[in-house]
Amino acid sequence: MAASPWPDGRLIELLGVAHPIVQAPMKGTSTPELAAAVSEAGGLGSLGCAGLDGAAVGALVREMRGRTRGPFNLNFFAHGAVAPDPAAIACARARLAPFYLEKGLGAPPDRVDAAPAAFGEDQLAALLADPPPVVSFHFGVPPGDAVARLRAAGARVLSTATTVAEARALESAGVDAVIAQGWEAGGHRGAFPVTADDAGVGTLALVPQVADAVSVPVIAAGGIGDGRGVAAAFALGAAGVQLGTAFIRCPESSARPAHRAAVEAGRDDSTRLSRAVSGRPARAHRNRYVDAMAAETGALPEYPLMYPFAAPLAADGDPDFQFLLYGQAAALTRAEPAAAVIARLVAEAGAVLARLRGKEQP
Ligand SMILES: Cc1cc2nc3c(=O)[nH]c(=O)nc-3n(C[C@H](O)[C@H](O)[C@H](O)COP(=O)(O)O)c2cc1C
Repeated sequence: MAASPWPDGRLIELLGVAHPIVQAPMKGTSTPELAAAVSEAGGLGSLGCAGLDGAAVGALVREMRGRTRGPFNLNFFAHGAVAPDPAAIACARARLAPFYLEKGLGAPPDRVDAAPAAFGEDQLAALLADPPPVVSFHFGVPPGDAVARLRAAGARVLSTATTVAEARALESAGVDAVIAQGWEAGGHRGAFPVTADDAGVGTLALVPQVADAVSVPVIAAGGIGDGRGVAAAFALGAAGVQLGTAFIRCPESSARPAHRAAVEAGRDDSTRLSRAVSGRPARAHRNRYVDAMAAETGALPEYPLMYPFAAPLAADGDPDFQFLLYGQAAALTRAEPAAAVIARLVAEAGAVLARLRGKEQP
């Protein structure tokens, strides 16, 4: 392993990693193979565990322990309870009816079952019974006293903020570090409330303001695609980085061929935020459906109740309706094993940081 180039050791110490690089949890795309490869390479491997029950969570903790002796992270969604809203369902049905008709699918569903429970006692009990080294949250402040109980059990707790106010709320809830996720990020935006007028703060503006606002270490996320972005995050006051898009093309991920191809062909302008598949804003590949639904902001069913309406449109593999999540830095990524991604990020960031240091004025 290369000598440590890192100008800030807080996250390295907190997480027990060689490199302050977190492979983002990606529900549906991250795998135990991917997370373990990252952890073995000195980063923090993560698994998207949203929607899993306690038994499945416990099994994953055991599997990860068998795959790596390094630290690893299990990630959950903290969005609270969601009940079906008849007006939102009517909106989704009306908006999607022409697409259903065109594809010969009949009428959109007229009801959806209650949403699967968000993070709650079942998952928490499993985590407390056999705590993983790190637990992270997205979409809100973890419920009740979950943070305190997880920390008391020995886990480190990370959580996503997309504004300074969210970062402050997470620090008050006791998290060990805040993930500052900018607008550029691939996948679901971790914003707490879903509002039609999301200010969309970008990583470059968000990270230093969050670093000024909280005393816990900040992990920069969103639009970091190579070592230049990693080095920049440290200049902004971050103690580490979290990258998602950069790991989609790894052979260890479970990304489908269409997903890999979209990221490979991805440009700076080939994604946009959309609520139209899950109900929460997520940055995804621009295609006919995502572009056509871009104007729909507030009226659609909440996460995850939009999925049952959108999923049938994509079931036949039609590229016009696929929901392929990735971020604005896709063009900077490569198809290579996870260990090579980590090694490259470390080498590139080290070179950038050394070059900048060399140019310091005496
Ligand atoms: C395919 C994909 C799935 C994601 N799923 C999750 C998830 O399950 N939990 C989570 O906290 N973040 C998720 N994210 C967001 C990441 O945590 C992170 O904020 C984002 O990837 C950073 O931006 P980047 O993609 O430009 O690196 C996902 C991102 C992608 C690209």
